[in-house]
Formats: sequence, C-alpha cells, structure tokens
Amino acid sequence: MWFPFPLLLVHCSILVISFGVAESSDTLSFNQTLSDGQTLVSSGQVFELGFFSPGTSRNRYLGMWYRNLTPTYVWVANRNDPIVNSTAELALTQDGSLSLRNGSTSYWSVNTTAGASLQLLDDGNLVLKDDSGNYLWQSYDNVTDTLLPGMKLGWSLEKGNEEDLELPLFDLVTINSATNEFSSENKIGQGGFGKVYKGALSSGQEIAVKRLSLDSGQGIQEFKNEVILIAKLQHRNLVKLLGCCIQGEERMLIYEFMPNKSLDHHLFDKTRSKLLSWDKRFNIIMGIARGLLYLHQDSRLRIIHRDLKPSNILLDSQMNPKISDFGIARIFQGEQTGEITKRVFGTYGYIAPEYALRGHISVKSDVFSFGVLVLEIVSGKKIMGFSQPDNDLNLLGYAWKLWNEGNPLELVDEAIGEPFPLKEVVRCIQVGLLCAQLRAEDRPMMSTVVLMLGNENFEVPQPKEPGFKNESMFIGSDSSSSANNNLHTFNEITITNLDGR
Ligand SMILES: *[C@@H]1O[C@H](CO)[C@@H](O)[C@H](O)[C@H]1NC(C)=O
Ligand SMILES: *[C@@H]1O[C@H](CO)[C@@H](O)[C@H](O)[C@H]1NC(C)=O
Ligand SMILES: *[C@@H]1O[C@H](CO)[C@@H](O)[C@H](O)[C@H]1NC(C)=O
Ligand SMILES: *[C@@H]1O[C@H](CO)[C@@H](O)[C@H](O)[C@H]1NC(C)=O
Ligand SMILES: *[C@@H]1O[C@H](CO)[C@@H](O)[C@H](O)[C@H]1NC(C)=O
Ligand SMILES: *[C@@H]1O[C@H](CO)[C@@H](O)[C@H](O)[C@H]1NC(C)=O
Ligand SMILES: *[C@@H]1O[C@H](CO)[C@@H](O)[C@H](O)[C@H]1NC(C)=O
Repeated sequence: MWFPFPLLLVHCSILVISFGVAESSDTLSFNQTLSDGQTLVSSGQVFELGFFSPGTSRNRYLGMWYRNLTPTYVWVANRNDPIVNSTAELALTQDGSLSLRNGSTSYWSVNTTAGASLQLLDDGNLVLKDDSGNYLWQSYDNVTDTLLPGMKLGWSLEKGNEEDLELPLFDLVTINSATNEFSSENKIGQGGFGKVYKGALSSGQEIAVKRLSLDSGQGIQEFKNEVILIAKLQHRNLVKLLGCCIQGEERMLIYEFMPNKSLDHHLFDKTRSKLLSWDKRFNIIMGIARGLLYLHQDSRLRIIHRDLKPSNILLDSQMNPKISDFGIARIFQGEQTGEITKRVFGTYGYIAPEYALRGHISVKSDVFSFGVLVLEIVSGKKIMGFSQPDNDLNLLGYAWKLWNEGNPLELVDEAIGEPFPLKEVVRCIQVGLLCAQLRAEDRPMMSTVVLMLGNENFEVPQPKEPGFKNESMFIGSDSSSSANNNLHTFNEITITNLDGR
C-alpha cells in the first residue's frame, strides 16, 4: 500500500438512526448496521471496532484497535480491498450475513446463520454468536489478520521450521511500557520507514525500537521471513537486531541501543566535531567499509543498503561505527533480485545517479554513497547545502576541483586540529572520489576499497569525474528540508524517503 494523497479531513459519518448500533455498545444485533464514524467498544473498554484510515491514506478500512493505544490496529477486515472514494457500513442481516458493503458493493463478508449477533470481546476477539452463545465465526480463527496472545495458531507453529524460534518476539505491551507508551520524549529519530524510540526493558537493558510505517503492504509471514533473514546478519559494524514485535498492523524492530547517537550528530556540530580526531574518523571510515563489505559480499544474503548516510551510522560507547537500517528496504519491497526497481529509496546527495535517474540498483550504488560519506567525514561538511559564493558546486564537485588543482588537503575539516598523517588523509580523499565516480562500472567493489584504505602500498588509481558536481543537477536547486517527504518523479520512477539533508 502506498498512499501519495495528502490527508483530507473529509469525514463522513452517516448515522443510521433507526437501526444503528447504540453508542459504545459491544454488540451488533441482527438488522443493525455500524456506519463509518460509529464504533463497537468491548465491555471493559479494551478494544474498539470501527472505520479508520492508516497514516495519510484516504482509504477506509474496518478494523479493531486497542482503545487506549492508537493507532494500533490488531485486526483488519478488508485489508486487501480498501474502501476507496466511498464509505461503507457493516451490516448484520436477519438471514445471517455479516457484510461490509455499500449498496451492492461488498468489501468483506462472512456467512452465518439467521439471528446471529456480533460481539467484540475484551481479549480482542470479534465473535458471531447464535442465540445460545455458540461461536459461529471468530476473528481469532483468521491468523493472517490477527496476532494476539491466546490465538489458536501461534505463528511459530505455522511451519516469518526450527529456525523460526531464533528470533525473540516482543509483546506489544512490553514495548509499550518500555517506550513510555511511545511518548514524544522517547522518540529519537524518524526516517522514511518509520519512527525510532528509545526504551528500557524491565531488566534495565536499553533498546531502540523502530516502529515501521504501515505501508509495507506485507503480511505477517512475509515480514517474519524477512526479519529472520536480517537477524542472521551479524557483524561488529552492524547494529544488532534483538527481536521484533508484530501485533495486528504493527511491525516493530527492536535493536540494541547506541549511546553515542549517529555520526551526523558529531560530524556536523561545531563543538562535538572537535572531539572527532583523525584517528577516530579513520576508524569510523574503516568500520563502515568493513560493515558494507560484509553486507555486499560476506553475508549469506547480498544486501544493498540503499540509504547509507551519516544519520544511519550509529556509534557505540567506544565510538565504533555500526551501520543501521540495513535490510529494511527488503522488508518494504520483498525480494530484490531484479536490477531495476520501481520504488527508489534514498536521500539526495547520497543516491547514485544511475539509481536516482533510472532506478538501476547494484552494490555500486552503495559504493557511491560510501564515497560521499568518506568526503563528509574528512571535510566535516554536508554534501548538500554546501555552497560556495562563486559557483554552485556541492561537496563532491568541490573535492573534485581541489583534487584537480592539486590541493586536496584544503578539504580537511579545521576541527581536526592536531597534526594528521597527510598520506592517509589524501588516500581517503582519493578513495572517496573513486567511489563517487559518475560511472558505476568505474567504482571499486568494497573489497578493493577495504584494501586501498588499509594498505599504504596499494596503488590507488586516479579518480574520474564524480557523479554529481552541483546541486542543480537534481530537481532544481531545492535541497533544503522542504523536500522532506515530498514525492518526485523521474521518468516514472518514484522517489520516496527523501529527507533532503
Ligand atoms: C429485520 O429486517 C427484515 C427485513 O428488512 C424485517 O422483515 C424484519 O421484521 C426485521 N426484524 C426485526 C426483528 O426488526
Ligand atoms: C478516487 O478519487 C480520486 C480523486 O477524485 C481519483 O483520482 C481516483 O481515480 C479515484 N479512485 C477510484 C478508485 O475511483
Ligand atoms: C455509498 O457511497 C456513496 C458514495 O460513493 C455515499 O454517498 C453513500 O453514503 C455510501 N453509502 C453508505 C451506506 O455508506
Ligand atoms: C455467502 O453465501 C453466498 C450465497 O450462498 C455466497 O455467494 C457467498 O460467496 C458466501 N460468502 C462467503 C464469504 O462465504
Ligand atoms: C481471512 O484472512 C484472509 C487473508 O487475509 C482473507 O482473505 C479472508 O477474507 C479472511 N476471512 C475472513 C472471514 O475474515
Ligand atoms: C560516548 O559514549 C560514552 C558512554 O556513554 C561516553 O562516556 C562518551 O563521552 C561518549 N563520547 C562522545 C564523544 O560523546
Ligand atoms: C551543474 O551540472 C550540470 C550537469 O553536469 C551542468 O550541465 C551544469 O552546467 C552545472 N551547473 C553549474 C552552475 O555548474
């Protein structure tokens, strides 16, 4: 599901007065309807059933959520058949059919027997009962839509197979209390895939919770498969995934917490950047290179990160870098075997030209982002928003200019006060430029990059022209934060997740 429409606050609540359900009842009796705007509430006020639109979508769904934990949808009736440009009602007819409909259009239905009633229970089960209280149908039976404690089929019993048990499953209630109910004080980040919250488990262990946005369009099984694959990627330069939480529409990833935040927090801050000595910077560059090499070549999966940038590089207590958000693009796209993708994830400045313009993805698109990252680490400057009075070169164009003039060291961040090893710094700039070359085939593989960075005697080739030299090459010159969450199209390729840093 991808909803490019702005949120429109057109709320149609049509009250069916004669046969409508009484306000805050937990039961819909036969001959009654539940209209958009009305809800059923379980007797202990735990769950609520009604109509909703996820995120900024205008489509309507009939679903169930925790009454005091919005928006946490635990069950959706018409997941695959949204109500578009219309409203509908849930009707229980005397002959025993429960249907979500508008006139003759049915979005979802269940056949029952005459005289049944529908009741929402405090344990999150929605049941159709006959006069004697026997269950004719219950939402608990439909595992693909529901995942609550006490359900008939646990997901690990289905075969997202012993390996299934490797991944700890966190309960929503646990995560809710760990993050202080997802309070704004606990929010530590936000990206195209969702919001990140800091939390603490009752054991005291600190965690980072990534609450994924609702538009992945994935079922539980697919999501589970992807997360288990990602959890198997283990490297000291990757953030460790501790588990996940799946409940209804909620999809969350639980990571180890990184006390020193992300690289941009240090690199682009006047005071904090002074603490980033050359040795620390070089260690960060090497660590990112090794983590990326593992993702590209050494792990069981070949993962292309697709959104490598300073805010996705987290730092542990020793300031060692750990790549975060790897593999998340897979969750949102499913299998990534093709070379061309329809949906481009990335951030201006870091995104390789062939990927941005033609949707052509490969490990070399990550190599491009890595090159930009290296130049940022050396210079302490951001790729975008880097302006020079006499031209509109970006950082890459400026580095290329200095390189050709034979003055690469002018790029070096003044915050690196102490004497630094000139040769090593120049080698890093050269490798950065090599990685950010225009043509993907000219860029080195990460295995070569690691060799070039770590080996004084390795003969590093001369770089050719970089991918982007100025900002106007991308969509006007608008690189400001106003590009945030905008949607741009290039030759039918949609770019999302642009946070225009
Ligand atoms: C339910 O609706 C049917 C058809 O509209 C009607 O014939 C019947 O009398 C109604 N039953 C009750 C109990 O209102
Ligand atoms: C819904 O309405 C929008 C705007 O009027 C229109 O562009 C879109 O095609 C409609 N969708 C359907 C499924 O009718
Ligand atoms: C059915 O949809 C139309 C618009 O398409 C709307 O005007 C009408 O109120 C809807 N009926 C119900 C019962 O929601
Ligand atoms: C309900 O019964 C009708 C008529 O027997 C049938 O056409 C329809 O497919 C059934 N719906 C479901 C969800 O079983
Ligand atoms: C059960 O779940 C499947 C898959 O989501 C869905 O197609 C089907 O309509 C559901 N059945 C009922 C009765 O909700
Ligand atoms: C990194 O984190 C450790 C442990 O929390 C802290 O002692 C140290 O001051 C931090 N370093 C920087 C540069 O913020
Ligand atoms: C920006 O880059 C494009 C493409 O390389 C080039 O055509 C244009 O002249 C450049 N603009 C400036 C001001 O350098």
